[in-house]
Amino acid sequence: MAPEPPLLTMSGITKSFPGVRALDGVDLDVQAGEVHCLLGQNGAGKSTLIKVLAGAHQPDDGTIGWRGDHVTLRSPIAAMRLGIATIYQELDLVEGLSVAENVHLGHEPTAAGFVVRGKAAKESTAALLRRLGHSEIDPARLVGELSAAQQQIVSMARALSHDVRLIVMDEPSAALDPDEVDNLFRIVGDLTADGVAVVYISHRLEEIRRIGDRVTVLKDGRAVAGGLPAKSTPTREVVALMTGRNVEYVFPDRPVTRPPGEPILQVQGLARAGEFESLDLDLRPGEIVGLAGLVGSGRSEILETIYGARKASQGQVIVDGRVLRPGSVRAAVRAGLGLAPEERKAQALLMLESVTRNVSVSSMSRFSRAGWIDRGAERAAARSATRELSLRPDNPSVPIRTLSGGNQQKA
Ligand SMILES: Nc1ncnc2c1ncn2[C@@H]1O[C@H](COP(=O)(O)OP(=O)(O)OP(=O)(O)O)[C@@H](O)[C@H]1O
Ligand SMILES: [Mg+2]
Repeated sequence: MAPEPPLLTMSGITKSFPGVRALDGVDLDVQAGEVHCLLGQNGAGKSTLIKVLAGAHQPDDGTIGWRGDHVTLRSPIAAMRLGIATIYQELDLVEGLSVAENVHLGHEPTAAGFVVRGKAAKESTAALLRRLGHSEIDPARLVGELSAAQQQIVSMARALSHDVRLIVMDEPSAALDPDEVDNLFRIVGDLTADGVAVVYISHRLEEIRRIGDRVTVLKDGRAVAGGLPAKSTPTREVVALMTGRNVEYVFPDRPVTRPPGEPILQVQGLARAGEFESLDLDLRPGEIVGLAGLVGSGRSEILETIYGARKASQGQVIVDGRVLRPGSVRAAVRAGLGLAPEERKAQALLMLESVTRNVSVSSMSRFSRAGWIDRGAERAAARSATRELSLRPDNPSVPIRTLSGGNQQKA
């Protein structure tokens, strides 16, 4: 008997954007029921490849085979009709609509040819959320009121509301804590047991070992390895493929003793009614402190309060011996605090602006002279900051929305 054709065969996929060849002749084949991982450094082309697969980008060249037939994915709806669902790195939910409306957006449930709204949509959404282990999410809630992890689940419910054969997940674990990741992997296990294939993108090699069957590695828009065994390929080899260098993948030892010196940051008895109580913390120069807790335990609220984005109801934050004015981001920034928040798109970035403006915006006063912006100084500062982080492309005048997810995070 002839072997079954792969579920998906992408061949020679090429895609350019102005000034960048994001994909250069990439091949990817995926079998029914497997978890196929895509690996690669920031900007390697992973999200672009899956956007081609989702019908969101049209390739400049290359072909796509689906269950043995040649197909053209002209739109996301075309991909969805074939049974390809995508959970994007930047979730594309509509915050002003309810959970149920988001889940059924574009394909409301019908009965006898009529769209049934309201009750039926809520009931089928509730059933999907139960299946995902999240019956606490109310289908009537507005998506904008949910946490990042819950929004991820809603996005998953939307994927499962179709008859799917392939689910693409672009860094689904980035906003999840370990319990949530376990839950996600249980769902992936259920799906693959039913013969559904999963294309899984993550930067965490231990996740790929846990759930992956095969791995395709992208580097600079090319597939440098296709379909390696996910569990047995040595880490050294995977990292060498991703980076193109022979590196010993070790982190430098850090001394576990506390660095000497006076604390640079002191948090004393900080509290916000109903969110968290009496937090004390001090941090010395050169020190890294981890803040652990479950989703909803108040980690983000604590950081946002230290940063002044939320006003403390009690306690104080002291930087370099000076008490910060509570609830003032401006005071925090002046004192030299920076915050990389949980949801970069909603909380940190001006998506329509350049990388330069995004980098400089929180310290604009440094580039203002008598009410004018010194654009030369602004550009120079952005360029040196982005070089230090090897941000790609090495051109901070481009709009930030054109950067890969990881490079947006660096910005
Ligand atoms: N809409 C766009 N316009 C211009 N350039 C783009 C666009 N989308 C992606 N690119 C570029 O294509 C390249 C590949 O980006 P892609 O988002 O596919 O990377 P990635 O592998 O998903 O990275 P990450 O791990 O950071 O998410 C990058 O150089 C990026 O700047
Ligand atoms: Mg990406």
